[in-house]
Amino acid sequence: MFIGLCLGRVILETFRPSKSLFFVRWEAFRRNILGLWSHARIFHQSSTMAKSKFEYVRLFETEDRCLPNSWIVVRVDGKGFHKFSTEHDYEKPNDMRALSLMNKAATSVMEEFKDICLAYGQSDEYSFVFRKETQVYSRRSAKLSTNVCSLFTSAFVYYWSEHFPSSKPLYPPVFDGRTVLYPSNQNIRDYLSWRQADCHINNLYNTTFWALILKAGLTAVEAEQKLKGTLSGDKNEILFSQFSINYNKEPEMLRKGTILVRRKVPVALPDGSGTREKSQIVQLHTDVIGDEFWNENNHLLTIS
Ligand code: GTP
Ligand code: MG
Repeated sequence: MFIGLCLGRVILETFRPSKSLFFVRWEAFRRNILGLWSHARIFHQSSTMAKSKFEYVRLFETEDRCLPNSWIVVRVDGKGFHKFSTEHDYEKPNDMRALSLMNKAATSVMEEFKDICLAYGQSDEYSFVFRKETQVYSRRSAKLSTNVCSLFTSAFVYYWSEHFPSSKPLYPPVFDGRTVLYPSNQNIRDYLSWRQADCHINNLYNTTFWALILKAGLTAVEAEQKLKGTLSGDKNEILFSQFSINYNKEPEMLRKGTILVRRKVPVALPDGSGTREKSQIVQLHTDVIGDEFWNENNHLLTIS
């Protein structure tokens, strides 16, 4: 089509009535043909440069945009951290250094991705909640999970020495990452409640299990047998009667996990003339299962 149009133009130009002499016509014809040839060559080259014959393999990539108007959660979880924590001498049942390193890595992720409105972490996992209407990476699921997971992992290693000053990681830690969508406010609240309930169940079990081993001298098998079939009230009772531990007085970070949110905090002006408001990421260790947190932070659930 393009070549046809160009050829038509050459013939018209060449045999215009105003040009009378044959050699003038011939010269014009020759120049136009040369011009057409060089145009065609450039057109061919640029089209092959932009689209190689291999370009078609792009069609194998699948569309993975998250549904609009839904909460996007990216959760990262340590791979084989049962082994990793043992090999790196994590304190049992909880290692404050490890938990604060997790919080630091998660803070780095929130600093980078401003559309994360809340994060929740416990043990070797962290969940990042993106605003319902976020357009980051055009809501592409794999882009979101891989970027969050990659930054979290590199920050975990980057800040390791601040939390474990006397040791280096023995091998590179790995975190997996997944993206999950929650369409309603109730769904996202239930998701966070699920993770916090998991934190409570595991922490109560682990606190009792390790007290039986470290303080009462039971073997792991004996401690497991003793706790088999017990309810949370039974574990509270074992802790209190045998070890004088009031579980409700254990640090909130261990019982409830860590919630990261953005808060406006006053910071001093450099000239000392007063303060200005600055958005900062703050750590909370509060209950997210009941209504109180959501009543106090209802801006988190409303579209901004
Ligand atoms: P995958 O996630 O399936 O790869 O397995 P995992 O070994 O990481 O286990 P999972 O994620 O289910 O649980 C996390 C594990 O990390 C716990 O069971 C503990 O063994 C360990 N862990 C996490 N935090 C601490 C801690 O503060 N202290 C100790 N001692 N261990 C911890
Ligand atoms: Mg894990």
